Amino acid sequence: MNEEFKKKYHEKYLAAKQKGVKFWPDIIYKDLIVSFGLFLLLVGLAAFLGVAQEPKADPNDANYIPRPEWYFLFLFEFLKFIPGAIEWVGTAVIPGIGVLILLLLPFIDKNPYRNWKKRKIGVAVMSLIVIGIIGLTVRAVITTPEQEEVALAGSIAEQVIQGQDLYSFWCAECHQPEGEGGEIIGVEGIEDGTLVKSISSIDEMWTRTDETFYNIIDLGQQDLGMPPYGLGYGGELQRSEIEDIVTFMRYTWDERAEIPEDAIIGIPSLAEGEVPSYEVHISIVAKRYCVSCHRPGKENNEYLMQTYEEILTTGDNADKNVIAGDLESYIIVTLHRESIFDASGEEIIGPMPPSKDLKAEYIDMFERWVLAGMPETADEATALSEPIMEDAGDAAPASEPETGTEATPP
Ligand code: HEC
Ligand code: HEC
Repeated sequence: MNEEFKKKYHEKYLAAKQKGVKFWPDIIYKDLIVSFGLFLLLVGLAAFLGVAQEPKADPNDANYIPRPEWYFLFLFEFLKFIPGAIEWVGTAVIPGIGVLILLLLPFIDKNPYRNWKKRKIGVAVMSLIVIGIIGLTVRAVITTPEQEEVALAGSIAEQVIQGQDLYSFWCAECHQPEGEGGEIIGVEGIEDGTLVKSISSIDEMWTRTDETFYNIIDLGQQDLGMPPYGLGYGGELQRSEIEDIVTFMRYTWDERAEIPEDAIIGIPSLAEGEVPSYEVHISIVAKRYCVSCHRPGKENNEYLMQTYEEILTTGDNADKNVIAGDLESYIIVTLHRESIFDASGEEIIGPMPPSKDLKAEYIDMFERWVLAGMPETADEATALSEPIMEDAGDAAPASEPETGTEATPP
């Protein structure tokens, strides 16, 4: 900047100052009016539009994905690049240095020009920062997984259905599919022959409130052998899931509560000569009576029953469990409460389900399914339904009438 320019600039500055407005009180006054206007606007928005709220904080909800407000997202994202052990560098030191530089900027950069074209370094640095902030924010938005919608209490019917599934999965192995209790057999972590009382009896329903049920499931009764299920106590169920189980128990077993029509998912019974399918029949029976034990992480000879493929292909005895057309399939034999022995005469599989007979109607279902070659979809089963009558009759004449169900209408 040469002397000539400096002089001219100074004159210009003085002239501008002469005819300009004063900071105090003129500018301050204008600022006051504008900020008061904004204040009224905010009060109005808060009063009439309200604030969008997230659901109430739930310490048991492990699915919640916590994220800062959008204007802090870049810092949050930045932190991901810093190893956990020196997290403080990312949370305090680097942002601190950034703020410090901003504070010191007027002292560091003494470039007198106002025109941005003449402030290359400043503009370049600021652009980099802005691009960095935008980039990190965008990256944070992209990498944030979708917040899973946790069943925000649907209708009673939805809760009952959801609760039924959860009950079958988590509880039926010990309390039995209808809550009737009795001897526990074949469940890891609890002694064979342990007795549990019925949790679906009138007595139970009239003496236990929903809250009591909730707490028992949440905390367990560990001295008696009932594990805790609440996430807060080392279990795997969310609050809403425990609530669904309680709703299921109440509406299904308490005669005072009327269960909504659309909450009743019966297992369709079979007409004469009708072939069941995995889709419509077997999957539901398996879910209610087998899956609580036949899923990963349970003692079950590695036999999983949660999908069509699993039923047909898993298990230590996968080649013998389900054989098309063969009533000697282990799945049928064990349902008839016979054990399977190995060559040395040692029992390798006990009766299934271990503690109690499956209803004759469902054993019949499994038999017809195996005889027909395990159709997966309802269409496949319908296609097999008529002709299979004769085939099945020829192949295994004994199977039909003996185990058939009494009450199925044609
Ligand atoms: C590993 C076996 C086991 C599992 C799985 C299990 N419980 Fe229990 N439960 C027990 C035992 C043992 C008791 C205490 C003995 C008794 O009440 O007869 C018990 C007690 C209870 C009671 C209290 C009965 C009373 O009135 O005193 C309720 C209610 C109950 N369980 C519900 C459930 C529900 C719902 C689930 C599934 C989320 C479940 N249990 C899973 C073994 C189990
Ligand atoms: C209370 C837990 C429990 C329930 C419920 C249960 N099982 Fe099992 N199942 C077992 C265990 C444990 C084994 C391992 C063999 C044994 O200990 O008898 C097993 C093994 C089997 C096997 C042999 C698998 C292999 O490859 O060796 C078949 C088939 C079977 N179960 C069918 C069923 C069917 C069908 C149902 C439902 C109607 C059912 N089970 C319900 C616990 C259970």
